[in-house]
Amino acid sequence: PKQRTLAVIKPDAMEEHKEKILEEIHASGFSVTQLKETVLSREVAEEFYKEHREKPFFGQLVEFMCRGPCMMLLLTKENAVEEWRAMMGPTDPDQAKETSPNSLRARFACDILHNSVHGASNEQHAAEKIRFIFGEICTEAEANSG
Ligand code: CMP
Repeated sequence: PKQRTLAVIKPDAMEEHKEKILEEIHASGFSVTQLKETVLSREVAEEFYKEHREKPFFGQLVEFMCRGPCMMLLLTKENAVEEWRAMMGPTDPDQAKETSPNSLRARFACDILHNSVHGASNEQHAAEKIRFIFGEICTEAEANSG
């Protein structure tokens, strides 16, 4: 069965790598069901990353995510959550270079904060973030997609 996930191209990757990342998303068999380029407000970035509110890097993370446009994508594919996470590679690009040299983060990310892309960590997070970013109409479609 098809699954949905939320993907984000972060501000550090938007200028230089956006087109290449989109091309690879399509080439890997994902359907881009929704797509929105936007500069996040502080409030939206804080809500989006609320699971990380207590982390020491939360302030930096929010600041970084608001510094320029992001591309938010609703991706559909079989096993989309895991497949997109595999395509991104580990959070830390130094680790990504070791274990997954072909991953997006190994090739494009600067460091563990400025790591080029985001993906929902599981199906429930994906549904929650898709609803938050794209609204109810996507959630209804999800419920009906079987
Ligand atoms: P992401 O997968 O979007 O989820 C949370 C983000 O917090 C992560 O990518 C990084 O951008 C950032 N992050 C995670 N760990 C650290 C860390 N140790 N130091 C700084 N930023 C981090």
